[in-house]
Amino acid sequence: MSRTVYVNGAYLAEEDAKISVFDRGFLFADGVYEVSSVLKGTLIDNEAHLARLHRSLNELEMEPPASDEDIVATQKELIARNELEEGVIYLQVTRGAADRDFTYPEGATPSLVMFTQVKNLLESPQGANGISVITLPDIRWTRRDIKTVGLLAPCMAKQAAKKAGADDAWMVEDGHITEGSSNNAYIVAHDGTVITRQLGNEILHGITRKAILKLAETIQIKIEERPFTPDDAYDAAEAFITSASTFVWPVVEIDGNPIGHGKVGPVARRLRQLYIEMALQEVAEQAKT
Ligand code: PDD
Repeated sequence: MSRTVYVNGAYLAEEDAKISVFDRGFLFADGVYEVSSVLKGTLIDNEAHLARLHRSLNELEMEPPASDEDIVATQKELIARNELEEGVIYLQVTRGAADRDFTYPEGATPSLVMFTQVKNLLESPQGANGISVITLPDIRWTRRDIKTVGLLAPCMAKQAAKKAGADDAWMVEDGHITEGSSNNAYIVAHDGTVITRQLGNEILHGITRKAILKLAETIQIKIEERPFTPDDAYDAAEAFITSASTFVWPVVEIDGNPIGHGKVGPVARRLRQLYIEMALQEVAEQAKT
């Protein structure tokens, strides 16, 4: 069945949706995006995603394509039209179409595209059983705090992981893990401390990361935001990743080394459970309004 997608003001069957060959997203990856999760047809933590969208736009001197109110209305309309119960909504803003020239065009109209994807978020096998990752050099550009659509490096990393028989890749720069190819990376020390890279230009400021660190605090988990090495990870009691499209997935193997006897650990399991509870609470609260 064909999805309905949103392109610059129109709701269209996916096969009818078109973007100009001169769109700067296509020519220069001159665009930014957000992925928000949807549970029971309800957007989760979407305000935080829109706040980060504005930050990304601002860093690239790009105009917002619409007001937040209109963006949310479109997201909700698209969820309704596609009868999306569980999955994600993808939103992309590009600088728009203009004759090919590297400098930003004057007065180009930004493009806004959105589509939904069905995804099993609550009952994912990876959430229950964990995943394996390999480490790879981080070959991305140095403004990873901007959520741009320039994603070839993570595509290459995920493809290399797949070839190696692993589920995903963690990136290494100057001997330290930055983050996962499309998620933030964490280890749990043997005393229960959760360690994850501090915010900076080297990683995306994950919306799920922020929520998870807050939730960890509520159950008195100690947090250290600092760089860690692949060796730290091999020796850790547990490891896990977070993102809007995974919530929390335990990592049970890194570069072939089993983490925590190769089984899902209690900290990752608990944080996943807490995140899901929080998300379902948001669903219940939004149902009231
Ligand atoms: N990826 N780091 C990177 C490089 C990411 O691409 C993502 C998200 C994250 C996690 O951010 P958040 O918790 O806000 O989803 C961290 C999305 C899901 C994607 O590209 O599909």
